[in-house]
Amino acid sequence: MVQIQSTDWSLDAASQDERAHWLAQLEHGKVLHFVQLPFLLQQQELAFVNERYADPKRKNISLNADGVTLLGATSDADAQSHMRNLIARFRAQSLALVHAIAPNYRNAMRVAPTSLRLQAVQNRATSWRKDDSRLHVDAFPSRPNQGERILRVFTNINPAGQPRVWRLGEPFEAMAQHMLGHVPAYKPWQARMLHRLHVTKSLRSEYDHTMLHLHDQMKADMVYQKNVAQRTVSFAAGSTWVCFSDQVSHAAMAGQYMLEQTLHLPVDKMHEPSRAPLHALERMLGHPLMAA
Ligand code: SIN
Ligand code: FE
Repeated sequence: MVQIQSTDWSLDAASQDERAHWLAQLEHGKVLHFVQLPFLLQQQELAFVNERYADPKRKNISLNADGVTLLGATSDADAQSHMRNLIARFRAQSLALVHAIAPNYRNAMRVAPTSLRLQAVQNRATSWRKDDSRLHVDAFPSRPNQGERILRVFTNINPAGQPRVWRLGEPFEAMAQHMLGHVPAYKPWQARMLHRLHVTKSLRSEYDHTMLHLHDQMKADMVYQKNVAQRTVSFAAGSTWVCFSDQVSHAAMAGQYMLEQTLHLPVDKMHEPSRAPLHALERMLGHPLMAA
């Protein structure tokens, strides 16, 4: 993890060299931790940082990329309008932060919905596969990434000052070394069927197949969960962190009230594309994973 002292979202005081160093660390699979970078809530917004506004059936409240559609909020129009404002402001700040670290990502990123997570981490898991308190790399069953990166910005807005606690596991290639032997062969006909049945929103590539099985294998293997090299890290209220969550082995252990922005980035727009899980896996498996 890289601890960064900057206190503004556009990193105005940071030099070019510092920013380049942070970008390299990010692409090498480190978490950038901005230890004093709070998301400031306006007085009238504080009331909405409360779990009673969360739909218990959903993991979070999210604002679509259109900036208008708010999903998962059980509340009146007034409350919804405050939530929309605060989530949109966080989106703008997290984009500014990423632009300041990686100016070349700017026109290449696809902005995913922004989420406000009101539920406590401890009350969340419904099945082992959805249990994010087990170490995993992010991979989505229904939305294939087609090799694109998953970059995420998180900020802890806990009003009572409680930290968000994560575990961080081993580097991506070491994890893949441990787990690849358990990934079944990719079957194109299966991918076509899942798409036809609308289980997936696009064709699941061999890359997506492999990432999903790595995600599942990691979570299913309790011996790995316990014994793999790992450390516990604490993200204080008022801090912000950024990582490629498809690369960083992570597990959320405790905490409540967080904002999260997901950004998707084509691998060839990275500063060092060879660092992407796509290319790491291709080197290990010896064949392309995104064949047409
Ligand atoms: C995750 O992405 O696995 C969960 C992160 C969190 O809720 O802190
Ligand atoms: Fe995750």
